[in-house]
Amino acid sequence: TEDKLILAFESSCDETSVAVIKNGTEILSNIVATQIASHQRFGGVVPEVASRHHIEWVTRCIHEALDEAQVSYDDLAGVAVTYGPGLVGSLLIGVTAAKTVAWAHHLPLIPVNHMAGHIYAARFVGDFVFPQMALLVSGGHTELVYMPKEHEYQIIGETRDDAAGEAYDKIGRVMGVNYPAGKTVDEWAHQGKDTFHFPRAMENEDNLDFSFSGLKSAFINTCHNADQRGEKLNKNDLAASFQQSVVDVLAEKTMTALDQYSVKQLILAGGVAANHGLRDRLNHDMARYYPQVKMLQAPLKYCGDNAAMIGAAGYINYLHGDRAGLDLNAVPGLSF
Ligand code: KG4
Ligand code: ZN
Repeated sequence: TEDKLILAFESSCDETSVAVIKNGTEILSNIVATQIASHQRFGGVVPEVASRHHIEWVTRCIHEALDEAQVSYDDLAGVAVTYGPGLVGSLLIGVTAAKTVAWAHHLPLIPVNHMAGHIYAARFVGDFVFPQMALLVSGGHTELVYMPKEHEYQIIGETRDDAAGEAYDKIGRVMGVNYPAGKTVDEWAHQGKDTFHFPRAMENEDNLDFSFSGLKSAFINTCHNADQRGEKLNKNDLAASFQQSVVDVLAEKTMTALDQYSVKQLILAGGVAANHGLRDRLNHDMARYYPQVKMLQAPLKYCGDNAAMIGAAGYINYLHGDRAGLDLNAVPGLSF
């Protein structure tokens, strides 16, 4: 059988990325132009700034992705693109670029949900076996997704307020860490201890939902109160305490979900899946409570936003016949 090459686009937030993926699993190229530096002085992603960067970078990313993969448009089987969820202006740049390539080169246009993309980042470390479950933790989302079979997604639990990554970024800001704060807070946490015992919201409720805004408020109050007393708190212990709360809740809820849904595999993916505390804890808990369930953790390099994962998910959509027309629109609030 013939190799299928997919040109994939990702532009939902602050990374412009284009990749070439062979047969859904082999990364021939994955160009990621990050805008983080442009947003840092604002303390978060400024949508208007993000859109302008995507416009500036997307064409260069296409050329680099094709060059590095050493393929031409004629070799492609299709063009995959993230059409949601994300920032509407940012999404529109990737969608427009993908449509243009698809139209100009008579290629099928394949719509991809960004969160399905995150799940498929784990496809680079192993085969998917169904039914499976995914813990998706990113800057915009925190959810448990049940996949009874390939191409079928059911959200079985999600955050009622902040996403885990968003909480990291907000408490990081209070500690003076540049956006995005997750990686630095993770590093500090490793040198500290859980001395503050922040709340673990809904940990013992048997629904599968999350909440991180109470934790964030408790953290901020602790810092403000200390400030007023002129007291200096240990940043490593603050980070470790915050991280322990987040990891406890994520791990406990995942175990509850595994009690309720019998699966063969657990996927850990999304930007926050890069967190060392979370990776270690899930390794430990899975070995202890669900040794028969295989865990695939997205490789560190593909936890954050990138087009390679969109190409991997796009290939599955391609096989299932998902096609979009030139009227494809960005859907900022897209869910499964
Ligand atoms: O998936 P992603 O790249 O973008 C979204 O789709 O949201 O996730 C970005 C988020 C940011 O909030 C960032 O602070 C967080 O992932 N993050 C981490 C770590 N690395 C990135 N959070 C905790 N620990 C990390 N090591
Ligand atoms: Zn993402």
